[in-house]
Amino acid sequence: MTKRIIIDTDPGVDDALTFLLALASPEIQLEALTTVCGNIGIDKTTRNALAVLELAHASHIPVARGCSLPLVSSPGKSGEVVHGTSGVGKAVLPEPKSQPVEQHAIDYLIERILAEPQEITLFTIGPMTNLALAIRKEPRITQALKELVIMGGAIKQGGNVTPLAEFNIHADPHAAHIVFHSGIPITLIPLDATYKCLLTVADVERLNRIDSPIARFVRDATATYMDFYKKYEGFDGCALHDPLTLAAIIAPEIFTYEEHHIDVDISGGVSNGNTFADFMKISKKPANMKVALDVRGRDFIELFIERMETLSRSIQDST
Ligand code: RIB
Ligand code: CA
Repeated sequence: MTKRIIIDTDPGVDDALTFLLALASPEIQLEALTTVCGNIGIDKTTRNALAVLELAHASHIPVARGCSLPLVSSPGKSGEVVHGTSGVGKAVLPEPKSQPVEQHAIDYLIERILAEPQEITLFTIGPMTNLALAIRKEPRITQALKELVIMGGAIKQGGNVTPLAEFNIHADPHAAHIVFHSGIPITLIPLDATYKCLLTVADVERLNRIDSPIARFVRDATATYMDFYKKYEGFDGCALHDPLTLAAIIAPEIFTYEEHHIDVDISGGVSNGNTFADFMKISKKPANMKVALDVRGRDFIELFIERMETLSRSIQDST
């Protein structure tokens, strides 16, 4: 059965690939995008969301512009070194013709979730500022939201923005704290799983045997991303952090999930933004989420490339 989803996002190279995967997946109906500051500022994340939908002939999908700052923290270091100054690597996308909806992302999320209780699955693939404020403004969404899938956190794996913290959580740890303790049914896809999903140059070359603006976008957008991974993390490839979240719908069998009580450090010290599991159940608190601690990463990459090939064949250069 098709699942109706909204993606809250800070595009962002891997965020952009997530939109394309959602559009290429018959199991998913992409209802809307809500944007937030994160990898790059809100003007660019909102523009990129509109521009990538236009590239994929999906401008009918609404985009709602969200928060430009975290709840408490000062804006984190820019993600430009990873995602490029545009936020989509070396890809060059025309200025989008479409505009975001009038509503702020917080109000858009509240309206859509309350209008159809238990129908919408929300994916957060950036800092959770919009969702945290929506929960505070209208707590009823915690009962109406069908499920929340989060790309974020690092449980047994080290962090990627500090030794202990993953980028999306570290960028707004207070928002994560509100969401983690909201009672919403949560599936967490942390770095423990996402770092096992490495897209390689060979994968991108295979995709580009198809002459399509989609294939070229994947090549150009990931070019900066791959440069970063080579230079700073010693990988030949790049981790598809955000796209992997969609496997919770399109290929749940590739994950190894455990149920745990997960919390986030908001103390402001050296471990600020650290996400940790109560593996020994010392707090006696019930599990508050399902966590993907392992994944068949290569199976996901194969699925991703196959679906990008299908999307590329369907979207050719306009004559
Ligand atoms: O840590 C990975 C996350 O940080 C991804 O969502 C990526 O887009 C960046 O936002
Ligand atoms: Ca992201």
